[in-house]
Amino acid sequence: MPASLRRGLVIGNWKMHGSVSETEALLRQIMALCETATAEVAVCPSFVHVPLALRLTAASAIAVGGQNCSEHDSGACTGEVAAAMLAELGCDRVILGHSERRRQQGESSALVAAKCRAAHRAGLKAVVCVGETLEQRESGQAQTVVAEQLQALVEELRPEDSIAYEPVWAIGTGHTASPRQAQEMHTFIRGCLGAARGDAAQRLRLLYGGSVKAANAAELFAQQDIDGGLVGGAALDAHEFAAIVALAG
Ligand code: PGA
Repeated sequence: MPASLRRGLVIGNWKMHGSVSETEALLRQIMALCETATAEVAVCPSFVHVPLALRLTAASAIAVGGQNCSEHDSGACTGEVAAAMLAELGCDRVILGHSERRRQQGESSALVAAKCRAAHRAGLKAVVCVGETLEQRESGQAQTVVAEQLQALVEELRPEDSIAYEPVWAIGTGHTASPRQAQEMHTFIRGCLGAARGDAAQRLRLLYGGSVKAANAAELFAQQDIDGGLVGGAALDAHEFAAIVALAG
């Protein structure tokens, strides 16, 4: 499938930022600025702000997702949120396996795959993050690491899911992967998906994440296998985020 047939997608990962009033103000600005966007747009606020975001976006094309979900459907899991709870509210997707969770919460690739299954049981699309650390890249292990992360969940993936390649060394650091480095890994990822899943690999959208901003998005999104971005810091600035969305259109 030519890249042009995969619709551009930009997801704002708001992480653990924002009060209620800040979240509302940010989202109102984003909605106004992205009203005529041709790319698909989603925002992922913290769990407690999800109902607010869904209420505000009810009449807009902006989708709302979670930043994580439990691998279990329900039960004695204090502090966890089930995929079905997000789906019942109106979320359509969930970010899984973000490197901050892999590192801070010790999430393994097997656990991320289990969460992916749980998301699908609830009817959510998965946005699965993969990526290597700086040490892994410098020691020539980047592709091996990403292949292992993919291997664990490749059988679970559906064409409407997306994969976000987020080199850990580029997240929140201001050091973006070069368009060539990013495209090289995206080609590799699509190749891995293709080997395991055939044609579905062409439909899955591959997002780049890691210090995406308006100033570097055009070059990144111009790459054949980069279908959009998973945006952290720049997603907290409505004008910056809207400029990125416009470049993915
Ligand atoms: P960043 O974060 O854009 O601030 O680097 C991206 C992410 O963590 O998803």
